[in-house]
Amino acid sequence: MKRALTGIKPTGIPHIGNYFGAIKPGLELAENYQAFYFIADYHALNQIKDSKQLKDSSYQVAAAWLACGLDPKKTLIYRQSSVPETFELSTILAAFTPKGLMNRAHAYKAVVAQNEEAGKNTDDGVNMGLFTYPILMAADILLFDADVVPVGKDQKQHLEMAIDIAQTINYTYQKELLKIPEPVIRTETETVIGLDGRKMSKSYNNVIPLFLPAGQLRKHVMRIVTNSQTVEESKDPETCNIFALYKLFASKHEQEALAKMYRDGGMGWGVAKQTLFEKMDIELTPYRNHYDELMSDKAQIDKILDEGSALARSIAVRKMAKLRKALGVG
Ligand code: ADP
Ligand code: TRP
Repeated sequence: MKRALTGIKPTGIPHIGNYFGAIKPGLELAENYQAFYFIADYHALNQIKDSKQLKDSSYQVAAAWLACGLDPKKTLIYRQSSVPETFELSTILAAFTPKGLMNRAHAYKAVVAQNEEAGKNTDDGVNMGLFTYPILMAADILLFDADVVPVGKDQKQHLEMAIDIAQTINYTYQKELLKIPEPVIRTETETVIGLDGRKMSKSYNNVIPLFLPAGQLRKHVMRIVTNSQTVEESKDPETCNIFALYKLFASKHEQEALAKMYRDGGMGWGVAKQTLFEKMDIELTPYRNHYDELMSDKAQIDKILDEGSALARSIAVRKMAKLRKALGVG
């Protein structure tokens, strides 16, 4: 059976973008692939230096996967930090990664650009974890010989780098030591937009968390940015942030009905937002209930993660033994 693998950084409460970009496609793939899904806690450490926040967030990400339907009997769910072979492989990969490749990484370049704009030193706020982020991510993937990696579009470059590094190693030893992974990026949900119309991201503070109580969910939906068209005016659903989110939740039939109301005119943004809120609330309530239940029993989450981590680690240990031998170390 082919393998699917993906990770989510525990840097905040999981949101709608994470759900459509990573969790939902991941769960669908898990039906036909042997799936490896993990909490990328050492990736999060580059950003989060508050131990409680990091720990809480790790539980939230694990509970999000489980609440949305991950079956731990079929799918491995584990902590990156519980598979230390990842960091050994990362050291190996670093020896084959040109510094210039890391210089081109979007996440690093974005910080450099911000610094330049603010007239700061280009290295300001850049830790080595951020700089070498793509190497650690490549290790996560290559350690498990993943065939496919479901991610949002923002991760495409990281995947390309992982492929690049793996090919260099395979070429150097003239052997397929590392499986070349393939990104799975769904075009319909490659970029879920946030409240302000930009990509939904914890870094932009524009997210709709997945498991908000109904009242708070409604408040978030009411904050979605719209244009200043009047109630009477005919509106274009295709350029509207509310409609973009509605499309993710509603059936084709429901989408057509709302699109008609947009085009006919006579509908204000408040009504469109209420329609979106109601749809989201119906779809998300069962997940939210399951999530709240899981979060009230962290020992149960730990048990699932411990079991998943032990199994993942046994696979990783075998892979590393082969790799060390091939490289002549150890
Ligand atoms: P954030 O940008 O909020 O920090 P992460 O980087 O933790 O999110 O993303 C975890 C996963 O969710 C990745 O696979 C990423 O591609 C996906 N993802 C995050 N935001 C979005 C979005 N707005 N649209 C689609 N996928 C997303
Ligand atoms: N870099 C990913 C993100 O920011 C998270 C991640 C870490 C990941 N390791 C991975 C995703 C391996 C896929 C495969 O969202």
